[in-house]
Amino acid sequence: MLKFSLRALACALSLSAVAGMAVAEPVVIKFSHVVADSTPKGQGALLFKQLAEERLPGKVKVEVYPNSSLYGDGKEMEALLLGDVHLIAPSLAKFEQYTKKLQVFDLPFLFDNIQAVDRFQQSEAGLGLLKSMEDKNITGLAYWHNGMKQLSGNKALLAPKDARGQKFRVQASKVLEEQFKAVRANPRKMAFAEVYQGLQTGVVNGAENPWSNIYSQKFYEVQKFITESDHGVLDYMLVTNTEFWNGLPADVRSELDKIVVEVTAKVNEQAEALNQGDKQRIVEAGTSEILSLTPEQRGQWRDAMRPVWSKFEAEIGAELIQAAQAANQ
Ligand code: LMR
Repeated sequence: MLKFSLRALACALSLSAVAGMAVAEPVVIKFSHVVADSTPKGQGALLFKQLAEERLPGKVKVEVYPNSSLYGDGKEMEALLLGDVHLIAPSLAKFEQYTKKLQVFDLPFLFDNIQAVDRFQQSEAGLGLLKSMEDKNITGLAYWHNGMKQLSGNKALLAPKDARGQKFRVQASKVLEEQFKAVRANPRKMAFAEVYQGLQTGVVNGAENPWSNIYSQKFYEVQKFITESDHGVLDYMLVTNTEFWNGLPADVRSELDKIVVEVTAKVNEQAEALNQGDKQRIVEAGTSEILSLTPEQRGQWRDAMRPVWSKFEAEIGAELIQAAQAANQ
């Protein structure tokens, strides 16, 4: 009898050891995105993986899926809400279903440069927006830069009239649609993964992107001209599923929060240099001509696109637009 109970005890102990091991399985964090590893966001995702696995060995495993290899535009947000992925960093243009406030970032000619964008993001108003979707189970962890957008086309785009009748690919954003309508062009919403083919086959004639996307997606091979317009910004919000993040063991979560701060600083410090490096590579490839605008030409684009602001002022809030403008200093 005693022998039997000892055996039962041993068995129970080993079972609980197995159970203990099961509890110690690493948390798997899937990070899905749509751009190349070499871009600011791609680099940020890889650095997050490296630091998380180094500092939380055995506790966290990060799987990075670049280039729409797991989920593309449109699907990645759904996947985040379903808990199928845990970190994504969509461009700020892709949140309009969840909050109208982030549309502020898409207003054309609002920010003078990426430094102004950064000042706004780090202001009280900007940081507040990270929490603007928590009622929808989406928590913003940080802003990541890509950079200012450049206009590309198969026509030289020097004055707003050059865009007339041209078909431009836009991200899923009403503001960006209106931006192109303002110059009498035809905007077409299209997932990022489809843009190269769209440009190649003529479904669209032009697009707008920072240099790092134009280079890594090879858009410069299928666009004759790129105008250095800096007319808007393409940045990201690193977001997670609120319940998932809050449900992480406290030690894991606080370490990951610190890592996010560190990775964000690195991404934002490197983004401009990555974009300038890619611009240089495009110049060297020689397949498209890079055009610069005179101050007068830039002024014409600004005047033509500026009426878009008032169309969205009620949804975004005049105060938020003012706060963003104030960041230009
Ligand atoms: C786009 O769709 O053009 C961008 O949002 C892609 C990206 O994530 O940079």
